[in-house]
Amino acid sequence: MEHVGQTVTLSGWVQRSRDMGGLTFLDLRDRYGLTQLSFNLSVNEKLCMEARKLGREFVIQATGLVKERSSKNAKMPTGDIEIEVTALKILNASQTPPFTIEENTDGGEELRMKFRYLDLRRETVRKKLELRHTLARYTRQYLDEQAFIEVETPVLIKSTPEGARDFIVPSRLNQGEFYALPQSPQTFKQLLMVSGFDRYYQIVKCFRDEDLRADRQPEFTQIDCEMSFVERDDVLNTFEGLTKYLFKKIKGIDLPDFPRMSYDEAMARYGIDKPDTRFAMEICQLNNLIAGTDFAVFKSVIDENGLIGGICAAGCAEYSRKQLDELTEWVKDSKRGMKGLVYVKWNKEGIKSSVDKFFSPEQLKSWIEAAGGKEGDLLLVLAGPLEKTQKALGELRLELAKQLGLRDTPGYNPLWVIDFPLVEYNAEEGRYYAMHHPFTSPNPEDLPLMDTDPAAIRANAYDLVINGVEIGGGSIRIHDRGVQQKMFDLLGFTREEAQEQFGFLMNAFEYGAPPHGGIAFGFDRLCAMFGGVESIRDFIAFPKNNAGRDVMIDAPGAVNPAQLKELGLKITE
Ligand code: AMO
Repeated sequence: MEHVGQTVTLSGWVQRSRDMGGLTFLDLRDRYGLTQLSFNLSVNEKLCMEARKLGREFVIQATGLVKERSSKNAKMPTGDIEIEVTALKILNASQTPPFTIEENTDGGEELRMKFRYLDLRRETVRKKLELRHTLARYTRQYLDEQAFIEVETPVLIKSTPEGARDFIVPSRLNQGEFYALPQSPQTFKQLLMVSGFDRYYQIVKCFRDEDLRADRQPEFTQIDCEMSFVERDDVLNTFEGLTKYLFKKIKGIDLPDFPRMSYDEAMARYGIDKPDTRFAMEICQLNNLIAGTDFAVFKSVIDENGLIGGICAAGCAEYSRKQLDELTEWVKDSKRGMKGLVYVKWNKEGIKSSVDKFFSPEQLKSWIEAAGGKEGDLLLVLAGPLEKTQKALGELRLELAKQLGLRDTPGYNPLWVIDFPLVEYNAEEGRYYAMHHPFTSPNPEDLPLMDTDPAAIRANAYDLVINGVEIGGGSIRIHDRGVQQKMFDLLGFTREEAQEQFGFLMNAFEYGAPPHGGIAFGFDRLCAMFGGVESIRDFIAFPKNNAGRDVMIDAPGAVNPAQLKELGLKITE
């Protein structure tokens, strides 16, 4: 309203137009929103006729007088005013766009991605990129105040083992050799610590050739950090501080201190290392209540130190046969591989269960009660080897939570998951894999176990989890050549392989490497968390689809034979 009476010039795109007899109204859209332009047939017929010819998405420049509207639109920030146009310039025409540039567009995902530059004109998508910018700005501000400096690290490197496949780039000048794109700047940031830059950060692109999902892109961005002369709590406090700072600045929320939970506890209570703690429905260990049973399935699990675990679904005692059958198939499918699902229902008529031949109603009731249930609830029980059963219960918990709408519980529940195992044993390959990456230090008190019981070593590693999403992860690093060598030994590298791949890092450790540690946040995931959605795609200006394709530029694509020849490459079938 403060501009009423002024003559202004606006440039932008035609969102829509309406003819109302002697008046034509046109909504002009630019980065900042919509403004109504008005053309009066009786005042300037030529201009009005020109305005009527404008199609959607034409680019125009309009000059006119800002006037208070006779009928105001409270839904529009500029709804109190309109511009009575006195001059109009068409800067460029537009074809009719393939989908409507509206909040609820009629365009499907594929079409929107093909014309992403039009999709980005939609206010909802533009706002997501603005949020991303704001998050990056506050992140830089916070880290800058904490004396971190941003250093760029190379993109053409040698493979860093983070557990995913590398994207590789052939070298023309060194035929037959390849660069790898970094899965993260891990080794470089450690080398910067050796160089004495004691607080590094970088908002950096990382590349991983892995299967894609809503929260995974082949190229994504990290807030990558490293600090020297620190212990675990220094890193946790600094990045808990960053997280709180962002929530305060952007959402006005004061987050309380983040709880810390060991990996073992997270697995026992939630069956996952990134628990969504906005709702309880925790796993209840029923082994003790069931001990001494003759029921063969449960007896063998108890004898083999497996887990009989239950999840109580509140208010679900009336689940139908069909719903239970579907859940049973779901736990038995190849992903979870459980042998079956036992249910116990407690409703007005009493207790009903798929195992009521083997257990008395009192026994069955005691299970539900142990899991925190009451009349009206449903208990679902899985039994089998410990880890597999924990994981399946964890997935079942999330599936039930989805069905019950609990995954939309408002609020933010951050926590640190700590004390991860250092290594995981892969029985098929008969070797250990680093749970995080091979540069992670064991907890100091567990160092002696490297020779005796590697699987029992806890890593000095940590993940930041918010509402069931792994936002970030990091660790205190190994900074001693001998320990690093031992780690590579444990992971099955020969001395030569370790030297060939990581000699540069181990050599650096011999020139005064300070103790150091760090963390990386998944920046796209952080953006999606602040934006309140699961998919990171809309927070990336030009994302890839689930097949790893950019459908707008049609990449990846073939290269011409001359290029291949120059690189010394040949495509085989
Ligand atoms: P990590 O592999 O746990 O650690 O990655 C850190 C964070 O990056 C995010 N992330 C992804 N986001 C989108 N798409 C992907 N494909 C993807 N992969 C990972 C996650 C994850 O928590 N160098 C170590 C960090 C360190 O030790 O300091 C690393 O990269 O949010």
